[in-house]
Amino acid sequence: MADFKTLDDLPEDLSGKRALVRVDLNLPMAEGRATDLTRARAVAPTILELAGRGAKVLLLAHFGRPKGERHSTLSMSYVQGAIEEVLDKEVMFIPEVAGPVAAQAVDILGPGDIGLMENTRFWPGEEANDPEFAKAIAANGDFYVNDAFSAAHRAHATTEGLAHLLPAYAGRAMQKELEALDAALGTPNPPVAAVVGGAKVSTKLAVLENLVTKVQHLIIGGGMANTFLAANGVDVGKSLCEHDLTDTARAILDAADKADCTVHLPYDVVVAKEFAANPPSLRTCNVHEVAADEMILDVGPQAVEALGDVLKTCRTVVWNGPLGAFETPPFDEATVALARTAAALTQDGSLTSVAGGGDTVAALAHAGVADDVTYISTAGGAFLEWMEGKELPGVAALSA
Ligand code: 3PG
Repeated sequence: MADFKTLDDLPEDLSGKRALVRVDLNLPMAEGRATDLTRARAVAPTILELAGRGAKVLLLAHFGRPKGERHSTLSMSYVQGAIEEVLDKEVMFIPEVAGPVAAQAVDILGPGDIGLMENTRFWPGEEANDPEFAKAIAANGDFYVNDAFSAAHRAHATTEGLAHLLPAYAGRAMQKELEALDAALGTPNPPVAAVVGGAKVSTKLAVLENLVTKVQHLIIGGGMANTFLAANGVDVGKSLCEHDLTDTARAILDAADKADCTVHLPYDVVVAKEFAANPPSLRTCNVHEVAADEMILDVGPQAVEALGDVLKTCRTVVWNGPLGAFETPPFDEATVALARTAAALTQDGSLTSVAGGGDTVAALAHAGVADDVTYISTAGGAFLEWMEGKELPGVAALSA
């Protein structure tokens, strides 16, 4: 695993020391209010620990994609209430990230106080990773903590640049995330299975190419399985299928073969003539029996049972994406069944299960097992890039 310092490497007493802490508070909002506080909760332990040790905690975060300009609707002040609620503490909003106003605000804060700086992406220097911009921010800090794994795929001033200017540490959420990811694909307990679902192969080509070299079992579900079935000569009817990518899918299957990775594709499927909840045309059939006017919307029950048996032989599973169109019943059944098997094996102590990215959190929550897997990452793009085997700049900078 990458070598990085944690909060344990800091002196116990941090009285009055200025901690610049990068967090991800890019919270989903509706009508000016955060609708999901998961990301705020994830960074609370780091903030409270640093404040408890006497540091002045200065939170740096982005919100949306304002592209280097101030947008009143994307001010960090919208998130202030959410973070105060989670911390159960007052947080001072600082309308700048550097310069005299920021310096003055930092002076006013006492040991253990918390300040929330303005949206880092209001300044073009953030995304440009401008060293001068980073230097101006660093002037208000004694050390830097990165607790934003979900933004670590961005080489921005506050996710990467600051780590080169101040003593740099991983926060508790970042530390937990890196430990879990290492257990899943870095130095995992074999055999390892990967479950990859979702609508399109095109968004996950690099993920699949990397996984076939790392895992012993690759379980492919969701719309993307149809492209692989088509590559194997199966007629998938009017299913979602990227026919122009069947050669690429074939190449991935060949690479898997060479690497001794078994690829599991559905052999029975749930189909319907229209995509709607509980449609009258719903039926389960063998993949070779899909009619020209039908579409595959979920993995069938026999295949799910067999996939459960595969997981029983594994020690580690990494999961990204649902197996079917899980938001519309009954096309959630395969995802729910396999998620429950993975959760039960995890609870029995025979499986380490790490899940993340996009719809995955929602799918596992829908299956009622979000608390029963080893680790769920709330990162979207960063989780996928990690699954692609890429080095994440924000993580690399912590170990430089
Ligand atoms: C996310 O929401 O996944 C992170 O906050 C990163 O946001 P970005 O994709 O705008 O960089």
